[in-house]
Amino acid sequence: MKLTLSVIKADIGSIGGHEKPSEKVLQTITQHVKENAPGLLLDYKIFWCGDDTAILMTHTKGEDNSEIHKMAYDAFFKATQVAKSQGLYGAGQDLLKDSFSGNVKGMGPGVAEMEFEERPNEPFLFFQADKTDPGCFNLPLYLTFTDPMFNPGLFISPILRKGFTFTIMDVSHTDGDKVITLSTPEDLYSIAALLRDHDKYIIESIKVRETGEICAKVSTSRLHNIAGKYVGKDDPVCLVRVQKTFPDTGEVVSPYGIGHFVAGDNRGSHNTPLMPVKWGTMPNFFDGPAIVSAAGLCMHEGIMTEHVDIFEGPTWDRIREKIADKWVEMRKQGFFGCAMLGLGELEYTEIMDHLEELDKKFIVRK
Ligand code: 13P
Ligand code: 13P
Ligand code: MG
Ligand code: MG
Repeated sequence: MKLTLSVIKADIGSIGGHEKPSEKVLQTITQHVKENAPGLLLDYKIFWCGDDTAILMTHTKGEDNSEIHKMAYDAFFKATQVAKSQGLYGAGQDLLKDSFSGNVKGMGPGVAEMEFEERPNEPFLFFQADKTDPGCFNLPLYLTFTDPMFNPGLFISPILRKGFTFTIMDVSHTDGDKVITLSTPEDLYSIAALLRDHDKYIIESIKVRETGEICAKVSTSRLHNIAGKYVGKDDPVCLVRVQKTFPDTGEVVSPYGIGHFVAGDNRGSHNTPLMPVKWGTMPNFFDGPAIVSAAGLCMHEGIMTEHVDIFEGPTWDRIREKIADKWVEMRKQGFFGCAMLGLGELEYTEIMDHLEELDKKFIVRK
């Protein structure tokens, strides 16, 4: 059966600062999706990570379907009214346009979708991150799909050995989607050269080279490119199909043990390690660190099982402790140097007005 797995997410307001959506906001989203599911969706699940809520859906309407996108947008719009009535912080933060125009792309919410022929066993992972941006997935996806130190399947499996096709987007380009398609193993170093700039070049999708099957998809929006000012980071989502002709679950999650530094955290302006956390964990120190949760599920004819919490468990507890140490050490440096993002990333925030004022006060000595 050919179906589409869609996830559409937004931050439409949260309790106590940018912490988590209220129960009433979550109930409103869930109720709207439930009422509109018959005839539209095969199945759905609601997740939240930090202050962002995600609607995970299966259906047969394909990617970029306006009915699906409108339903999700309306759920977030309705919940925004609730967020406002409760005085939640940042109510409607990610809804940048008042009226829906066919597709949530460019309107604020993040979206990742993949259409595929469902396998007899269809295990997949859903990742959701807060206090960061889609570039946070560049390194873990690169390592899983290119490096046998993280993924022995690359030499064990005859299909994986043939490599993958990466589609990478230049998200600084706002006039249409600017993308490049590169294949492993021959383009390995070109892919690395692009992915190091994780604020500009973002992995959009990865396909298995041998079969052309879609394996991974990331939400690639850039809120500040749409809004023209800082409105919050594009806290991203990522879908990865696993096992058999794809990397297995362990191979997909192994790079998250690194706690690599990503952009985000307080005011979206800092470098922060990415901490893999259990579902229901909020950002916890200095509006950070950046956090990522992962759900493992299976589906049959689009009906999803309950999920397992991938970052639960004693090894991850130990990894989290080490990442917390790394985080606290970095925070000792406060605003200074590499602790904060460079001006290029801050250029949509109010600091630029301040710097312009200061610039006028400079004198050039003769
Ligand atoms: P099982 O032998 O438990 O099916 O696991 C195989 C595997 O690939 C785990 O990484
Ligand atoms: P969010 O992007 O999660 O809304 O956080 C914004 C922020 O400024 C946190 O300090
Ligand atoms: Mg927020
Ligand atoms: Mg957020």
